[in-house]
Amino acid sequence: MRRIGISTGGGDAPGLNAVIRAACKTAINDFGYEVYGIRNGLDGLFESGGVFPLTHSEVRGILPQGGTILGSASRGNPFLRKVKKNGKEVVEDVTEEYIERIKLVGLDALLLIGGDGTLAIASELTKRGIDVVSVPKTIDNDVGGTDYTFGFDTAVNIATEAIDRLHTTAESHHRVMILELMGRDAGFIALHAGLAGGADVILIPEIPFSFEAVCRKIQRRIARGSKFSIVSIAEGSHPVGGQKVYKRAEDELYVARLGGIGQVVGKFIESICGAETRVTVLGHIQRGGTPTAFDRWLATNYGSEAIRLMARGRFGRMVALQGQRFTSVKIEEALASPKRVDVKGDTLQTARALGIAFGDEA
Ligand code: F6P
Repeated sequence: MRRIGISTGGGDAPGLNAVIRAACKTAINDFGYEVYGIRNGLDGLFESGGVFPLTHSEVRGILPQGGTILGSASRGNPFLRKVKKNGKEVVEDVTEEYIERIKLVGLDALLLIGGDGTLAIASELTKRGIDVVSVPKTIDNDVGGTDYTFGFDTAVNIATEAIDRLHTTAESHHRVMILELMGRDAGFIALHAGLAGGADVILIPEIPFSFEAVCRKIQRRIARGSKFSIVSIAEGSHPVGGQKVYKRAEDELYVARLGGIGQVVGKFIESICGAETRVTVLGHIQRGGTPTAFDRWLATNYGSEAIRLMARGRFGRMVALQGQRFTSVKIEEALASPKRVDVKGDTLQTARALGIAFGDEA
């Protein structure tokens, strides 16, 4: 093996550049590989200049930079394309076109950095004989087989700072402040930031909530003299027996976009609990900017480990952190067990012991 291609796919996450830098340096320094960057997910395979050499000079200084020097593509499944046939729109499988391009460009192996969408691509390419290693990226921390994805810690820090800032203004105005956070179907960001920021209510997809229980918590606080409350809510949260709130529905090509549950809860609190309420949606601020020290450490180890995996011929695998150890799992296994908050776990127990409500209290 001599030539490896690196690609970053899906929503970006702080630490992507740290992975690229560590992978590139390890590949060149320890194994003498030629490293190529693929631009914009795998789109670069089809673009002029879309596959370009990565050397020490391209990765110099990028460790603290947010985003990705390679660009990303998160428009959905790249292996599916909508085309018109006999006047009708049909979805075509174009995986073989990608495989041909990988071979034509002369890449011996791919390092695909991404979340579940990218892992699905990695799995498909592996099945079709391409040598792939993956690194788990996402602020959502919802990838199976690893304790942490890089990007999560940075998002939690940003969200915690937002809660701290909401706290002071909530207290001044005796308001309920709701902070809607990302995470898709996992509540890790809302839970960890909520705990770190001292939220009074945390709502996560893993625990369907009742509006009444949330209201009871806020009214109890008011009765005790705490006229303000902080609610940390994950975008994928939903009431018992109710639906998640979407900004855009999913279709054959695109995944659904969550968003809006904060407003729904806010309206209820204001009208039924009678507490003045404001809603903040933190959005992509959670994904932007420089990674924390932890994410730089994690991403750097992941990038370097991924190249060592390649050198050992351990393809079809994703690097992982389990406890204190860097290891790897089959991409298939990671995909089969997406991670969710353990509702009986230590963090939940701690939060409940502190009096934080999850909206499921009697
Ligand atoms: O998966 C990362 C993530 O930021 C989710 O938390 C969020 O739901 C989604 O991506 C937003 O996607 P987009 O950047 O396409 O709006």
